[in-house]
Amino acid sequence: MTADSDPGLFECMFSMRAMRRLKPDPVPPEMIAKILEAATQAPSGQNTQRWAFLVITEEEGRTFFGQNYRDWIYRLMGDRAPPEDDNSKPARQMKAALHLADHMHEVPLIILACGKRDWPFVVPQEERVGLAPPSYGSIYPAVQNILLTCRGLGLGASLTTVHQMFEPELREFFEIPEDYGVVASIPIGFPLGNFGPVTRDPISKKAHYEKWGQQREAP
Ligand SMILES: Cc1cc2nc3c(=O)[nH]c(=O)nc-3n(C[C@H](O)[C@H](O)[C@H](O)COP(=O)(O)O)c2cc1C
Repeated sequence: MTADSDPGLFECMFSMRAMRRLKPDPVPPEMIAKILEAATQAPSGQNTQRWAFLVITEEEGRTFFGQNYRDWIYRLMGDRAPPEDDNSKPARQMKAALHLADHMHEVPLIILACGKRDWPFVVPQEERVGLAPPSYGSIYPAVQNILLTCRGLGLGASLTTVHQMFEPELREFFEIPEDYGVVASIPIGFPLGNFGPVTRDPISKKAHYEKWGQQREAP
């Protein structure tokens, strides 16, 4: 499937931008299978694997998700839409996020990464009131595997969380049981743009050696 064109782990990791401009062409079932296989190879706390992946490819589900996602993006961020001629990085990112929202209903594949609800150890018994959150830490490694696999297969993908705003409706529509929370929704398709280097702060701003605040020269 990736045959000769497999870009390799570091190439994938270092060029895995949020790809929000996607073609509507369907994602082949073998690719979907590979993505799910990779997701389920991820680590989880005590190897409990309390994840579930809802794969949305049919029009009805994509339309439902797309309409709600778009409504909420505009409610949350509509007033921050940059002017047409603003080409700064934040403006381009915002435009791409709005483009994704406008076209979400046409994205051929959306995966909802769900996690079983489970109180973290640190929450005392007496404070465990209502629904527990899903174990985010046990789901995000699987989410990252999904994103990396998409990159490896030449598929564009991005991690989104706006679904939180309509999770009850989402749950009802897709018949997701109450004991699972939706951690991330990942729209996937063949990219319209190119993969390329991500923009991140230098290591010197983020890493500390032996004690907080101590820097080390790069070897
Ligand atoms: C926890 C999390 C939530 C995110 N939620 C959204 C989202 O709802 N919509 C969206 O378009 N991008 C979302 N993103 C993508 C980030 O905005 C993006 O990865 C970041 O700006 C870096 O951009 P880059 O990956 O293209 O370098 C999310 C990323 C993370 C890790």
